[in-house]
Amino acid sequence: MIKTQEYISSNKERFLDELLDLLRIPSVSADSNHNGDMIKAAEHLMTDMLKIGLDHVTKFETPGHPIVYAAKMVDPALPTILVYGHYDVQPPDPLDLWDSPPFEPVIKKTDIHPEGAIFARGSCDDKGQAFMHVKAVEAMIAQGELPCNVKFLLEGEEEVGSDNLGDFCESHKELLSCDVVLISDTSIIANDVPSITVGLRGLSYMEVEVTGPNRDLHSGVYGGGVANPINNLCNMISNMKDEKGHITIPGFYDDVVDVSVSDRNEMNKAPFNLDDYKKDLQLADVQGEEGYTTLERTSIRPTLDVNGMWGGYIGEGAKTVLPSKAFAKISMRLVPNQSSEKITKLFTDYFNEVAPDAIKVKVTPHHGGEPAVTPTDTPEYKAAHLAMKEAFGKDPIPVRGGGSIPIVALFEDVLSVKTVLMGFGLDSDDIHSPNEHYGIFNFYKGIETIPHFYKNYAALKAHA
Ligand code: BES
Ligand code: MN
Ligand code: MN
Repeated sequence: MIKTQEYISSNKERFLDELLDLLRIPSVSADSNHNGDMIKAAEHLMTDMLKIGLDHVTKFETPGHPIVYAAKMVDPALPTILVYGHYDVQPPDPLDLWDSPPFEPVIKKTDIHPEGAIFARGSCDDKGQAFMHVKAVEAMIAQGELPCNVKFLLEGEEEVGSDNLGDFCESHKELLSCDVVLISDTSIIANDVPSITVGLRGLSYMEVEVTGPNRDLHSGVYGGGVANPINNLCNMISNMKDEKGHITIPGFYDDVVDVSVSDRNEMNKAPFNLDDYKKDLQLADVQGEEGYTTLERTSIRPTLDVNGMWGGYIGEGAKTVLPSKAFAKISMRLVPNQSSEKITKLFTDYFNEVAPDAIKVKVTPHHGGEPAVTPTDTPEYKAAHLAMKEAFGKDPIPVRGGGSIPIVALFEDVLSVKTVLMGFGLDSDDIHSPNEHYGIFNFYKGIETIPHFYKNYAALKAHA
């Protein structure tokens, strides 16, 4: 694929400019004020896909945001790669913590990205990474070197739980039929330490409401005599973990598959420096489940965390008041064999059960998703391994990721296909945070690696 790589080299600046244009569209899926921008981003991608020579470029409407589909079928006898990505982004809030506006991309050098990084919401998660695939395919088509069929599935609802994509897969099995799913929406260990994600955690996300007295009360007149729902909620939450960091919800660990000692040893060989980790986060110490390393705590172990909590008086000064209500949003990351539905039920039952009579509780589940593991003894994993090796000059390390991409488990269930998670971000790129960025190196390295994957995959499948 020498011609493809030459094409990429001589079109680099344009590729970057095109990405910056895409990043200027504030496609925030969670905020209905941006519904028009969601359509703009979808259509922007479609225009580009048409221009590069993809066929069947289609916008599928859903009850939520549109799904963009396109394909290039070279020959039905060749294997088909389905590229999945998402063009929606997380809300940019809190805006005042950004050094530059989130939808006005700027390129700045950092210690980790001496070649420069693109600062913008969605630069890494996932517009920048999804767009690498469009540009890599552009190069292969332009040079007549596309060695497989390719289908694109770009959704606008990943950051809000992919509610409509499951149904879409069910009702479009033929359209989406493929041999493998390829996704760049995860990270590598470092720019000189390539890795491939071989597992993702699942998710159960709950919202709880605790009610004490029917109205806010004077904290002197009633204080000491009635339940304070904020105090109660704090108690209930802190009792959900013991002093060893174990989650106390009965049955929570029942389905967790224990990872073997040898696999754990292997995992802990991945380059990781606890001092750098603490320094980066300005922490005197880390915290987590006893008996596990930080790498293990953030990948192979389930979690329970409060994501937000509110209630009572939070305005200026001191108002003496007993709140009537308290709220919290709580997420649980799940590991292989745990089921989001089952954990959601265990949480709900437990929360209702431990609530004292002096309060009322209401539990509402939000979106969830199942964990996934991807095998390493498949042609697709080998193709990715080889591609990374060719592009980085080093063998990539298999690692389990801590985040979630719920659609991966659904692809396996509904389409019966495995996924390759060949992401190029860094954990320090601040996805979901202020000042999200994506290395220019990573953007170009991704575009360079992807054609190697196609070539290797086609060759391995031909000899399989
Ligand atoms: N791209 C991330 C997931 C990710 C990031 C996996 C880094 C591994 C490493 C994705 O966009 C995401 O943020 N997913 C959500 C889940 C969703 C249901 C909102 C998450 O993990 O919180
Ligand atoms: Mn993502
Ligand atoms: Mn995300």
